[in-house]
Amino acid sequence: MLLAIQNLSKKYNKEKFGLKDYSLTIENGILGLLGPNGAGKSTLMKIIATISQPTSGTLTLDGHDIVKDPNYIRKILGYLPQDFGVYANLNAYEFLEYIAAMKGVGGVNLRKRIEMLLEGVNLTEAAKLPIGTYSGGMKQRIGIAQVLLNDPKVLIFDEPTVGLDPEERVRFRNLISDLAQDCIIILSSHIVSDIETIADEVAIMKSGELITKGTQATVINAVDGKVFETVLDNDLVNDFKTKHLVVNSMRQKDKMRLRYISNKPTDGSTVCTASLEDAYLFLTKNNG
Ligand SMILES: Nc1ncnc2c1ncn2[C@@H]1O[C@H](COP(=O)(O)OP(=O)(O)O)[C@@H](O)[C@H]1O
Ligand SMILES: [Mg+2]
Repeated sequence: MLLAIQNLSKKYNKEKFGLKDYSLTIENGILGLLGPNGAGKSTLMKIIATISQPTSGTLTLDGHDIVKDPNYIRKILGYLPQDFGVYANLNAYEFLEYIAAMKGVGGVNLRKRIEMLLEGVNLTEAAKLPIGTYSGGMKQRIGIAQVLLNDPKVLIFDEPTVGLDPEERVRFRNLISDLAQDCIIILSSHIVSDIETIADEVAIMKSGELITKGTQATVINAVDGKVFETVLDNDLVNDFKTKHLVVNSMRQKDKMRLRYISNKPTDGSTVCTASLEDAYLFLTKNNG
């Protein structure tokens, strides 16, 4: 499958752009959409999920215009919105039955499928309790389960790991990785570590624009050989920060250990292996 986004813009009002002339091609695999709050991640995902319309530009799936013909993608779409509302009085099982009915999923296998999905998101035990009694993480997990109900081929998860504890994150990662190879999966996050263990490719965006897209290795290349560490006296730290992009600082006895990105390292610095986090901070801080 091929999802082609071309010169897509979304203007909310006179001054406010959600997306600006955004172009991106997405193929099968897991794409991590990374960007600070307000970058336009949710705007882009809503347009792909056809619940919002672009102001201009085109969006095609395998050559079909899905702005003009949203049903083409809706049939094969699974979408977890960022603000996922649930029906407090239904239990998990009833809720999934309800969503299945909405999506037109039925048949003799439905019961089995629901049980399998509840198992996959570790909600089997809580399946008979009303969703209103669930924790934030449990609600997020039922949201993930409903995405998978109709055996979708295009899966969109907007900030899926918010509210999940580390163990739940691992479960989510395994669930996603187990999905068939012939899917397009798009995940958004503003937290690098949520994406780096799971995504085949990453797209970094800011202020409605795409900054870069590629495999993690390609994106990391942008800062390769530019990440350093140095230890400084406390009173020198502020001045150092005005001259270099410090991505991490750690107290070390009466001094500070700083990780920074620079073309010109200071004397006594050691070079570090660049990470996706380094590249993300560099690319989102340096581009306006
Ligand atoms: N319904 C809306 N009306 C006006 N502005 C909006 C609306 N939704 C989003 N925006 C603006 O569009 C920009 C992108 O928002 P969003 O897509 O939610 O970013 P992200 O999901 O990356 O945090 C932000 O500046 C946001 O304030
Ligand atoms: Mg968002």
